[in-house]
Amino acid sequence: MVKKKTVQRVRGTYDILPTEQKYWRGVDEVALPYLEKSGFGRIELPIIEDAFLFSRSVGENTDIIEKEMYVFRDRGDDILALRPEGTASVVRAYIENGMHSLPQPVKLYYQGPMFRYERPQSGRYRQHYQIGFEVLGEIDPIVDAEIICLTFRICERLGLKNLTIEINSIGCSNCRPKFTAELVDYISQRKELFCDNCLKRSEKNPLRILDCKEPSCQKALENAPSILDFLCKECHKHFTSVLEYLDELSIPYNLNTKLARGLDYYTKTVFEIWTSQEGAQSSLGGGGRYDNLVALLGGKKTPACGCALGLDRLVLEIKKQNIEVAQENPIQVFIAFLGDKAKIKSLKIINECRKAGIGIIGSLTQKTLKSQLKTADKLAVPITLILGEKEIIDKTVLIRHMEEGAQEVIEVKNIVKELKKRLPKGN
Ligand code: HAM
Repeated sequence: MVKKKTVQRVRGTYDILPTEQKYWRGVDEVALPYLEKSGFGRIELPIIEDAFLFSRSVGENTDIIEKEMYVFRDRGDDILALRPEGTASVVRAYIENGMHSLPQPVKLYYQGPMFRYERPQSGRYRQHYQIGFEVLGEIDPIVDAEIICLTFRICERLGLKNLTIEINSIGCSNCRPKFTAELVDYISQRKELFCDNCLKRSEKNPLRILDCKEPSCQKALENAPSILDFLCKECHKHFTSVLEYLDELSIPYNLNTKLARGLDYYTKTVFEIWTSQEGAQSSLGGGGRYDNLVALLGGKKTPACGCALGLDRLVLEIKKQNIEVAQENPIQVFIAFLGDKAKIKSLKIINECRKAGIGIIGSLTQKTLKSQLKTADKLAVPITLILGEKEIIDKTVLIRHMEEGAQEVIEVKNIVKELKKRLPKGN
């Protein structure tokens, strides 16, 4: 006999079940109004894009493009990708929608799933979710500070503890090549100390060696040249200003000269927000400045800066730090009935209440009153309506206040008005 194969979710993806929604909603409720109130407009971007958009912007020699991007040929023979990140799409949309002619800077935020074929583990998935925010059209370092401050404050408002900003400057196309040449030279004199990956990177993308996760490579890098000693005058001034603004805003940061980020479009400031719990460190989000990307993708030269927070990681961290997340019960009323006439009347009452915006359900297939009342208890509703044969004759309904156990009788025709009096506002 052929065994039936059950279809399972794709490796590295997961379902966000109703019981988990409060965490996700909790993050949205903190982050999204905060961004709106800081002048960011929401942009909805397609999940599929021309694959070239990402290879051009994120960079051919990055892990994301070399190993992780989901690329496919569609039925029209176009080569498309499931977006691995959002910044490239924002820049494409900025150019394509002529946003350079709007008052600058343009401030946009987005939210949604991203796709990377990574090795799945806790906090690393093949489909993950980001909230990103980008400021396009302003070169002033105060924008970098504003983005970092927003990143920090959103995490802080979520109640997260032990947050720090790891920050670095990776210079620009004037000063960075001098640094990478020195770094390659340093590595070529110590080849035996570095992993194969780093040796490969020293040919193709030397900056990425800096944040290699191998402890032996990190040790070998201890005396490596520091990018900060190579910054040109302009990059140095920019970076100093960013740090001064962060000091003014009392944002705790750590100068991390090994921070390079995994995407090629950055110039000058790069940063990540970390939380350290029991020694383990995890990056909740990251970003930086990308002054060349708009021009690289065919637009006018437009400086820009942004960040993306990883929602999956924020939710994991909220749980790990035992942060209470309030959940309002959308169901305020349960209706229990006895007898066929009462069943039909219940259906009508439910309909009438829902029309009036009251959260109400009944368990209309359950036969006994006892089992219905058990369900009401489980739902933890403040009010249960009880409709029996007597009530049908009297054209009344019994209101039971679940917490106190008190009961009252009201006329069925006034049900909505009477419930509204007894329920919190918003119902
Ligand atoms: P990223 O650092 O690649 O940057 O991703 C941003 C955040 O998304 C990470 O800090 C992490 O929290 C989360 N993340 C990334 N990959 C995964 C994964 N496989 N599983 C779970 N979470 C993940 C960017 O994507 C840039 N576009 C950020 C940016 C915006 N730079 C400038 N503007």
